[in-house]
Amino acid sequence: MTMNIIKVKNYDEMSKKASELVVNQIKNNPSSILGLATGSTPEGLYLELIKKYNNGEVSFKDVTSFNLDEYVGLAPDHDQSYNYYMNEKLFNHVDIDKNKTHLPNGIAEDLQQEVEQYEQKIAEAGGIDLQILGIGTNGHIGFNEPGTPFTSRTHVVELDESTREANSRFFASIDDVPTHAISSGIATIMNSKQIVLLVSGKSKAEALHRLINGDISEDFPASVLKNHPNVTIIADEEAFSA
Ligand code: F6R
Repeated sequence: MTMNIIKVKNYDEMSKKASELVVNQIKNNPSSILGLATGSTPEGLYLELIKKYNNGEVSFKDVTSFNLDEYVGLAPDHDQSYNYYMNEKLFNHVDIDKNKTHLPNGIAEDLQQEVEQYEQKIAEAGGIDLQILGIGTNGHIGFNEPGTPFTSRTHVVELDESTREANSRFFASIDDVPTHAISSGIATIMNSKQIVLLVSGKSKAEALHRLINGDISEDFPASVLKNHPNVTIIADEEAFSA
């Protein structure tokens, strides 16, 4: 197993450590291609990056970004869309060129064409240098739910009930949570040169335990990361409590 594991005390330390890795990446290559995630886990990382930008420690002006996923059916200005999230949590607060930020278009008329074009845009940019990931309680990465082929490229996915339930905390009711999403595929993620997986809290403890101790299997998507040559897991004490 080649995964590099960094154990930190809590969420704040995880976020700080992750921000250091991202800033180092940008310092080494100001035109880095970043792969970004949404959800609760990277919010602290984005706050730290905004702080470091405000302190003059980093500039995003030549950075390109590709997000992992977007809900099908939510327009970019919908307040639960991942487009909206990225603007609110990061892009509006730093000097990134919005023309260089990319998320799948969840309201594309032709979703099949959208996923193919998204995959192609990542390839044309030269691939992801540093991919940030969170993990679902069921082991999903991006919205690649258990059973997704490791060979998958950007695709339309049906969300698991457990994922819709977990994400219903952001919506008025579970009925408002979209049933489908566009997600980078597992092979898309695995193509990244470097991957940083963030894991925080008790609710992720079983998933982290299975990731570290379990087999590599499509039943547990994150397990594929064991096949990647450059993965760093930053996890806090609660995440290690299983
Ligand atoms: C988000 C994503 C998902 C989340 C995962 C964990 O872009 O791709 O895989 O990383 O669902 O979500 P949180 O961080 O909200 O626990």
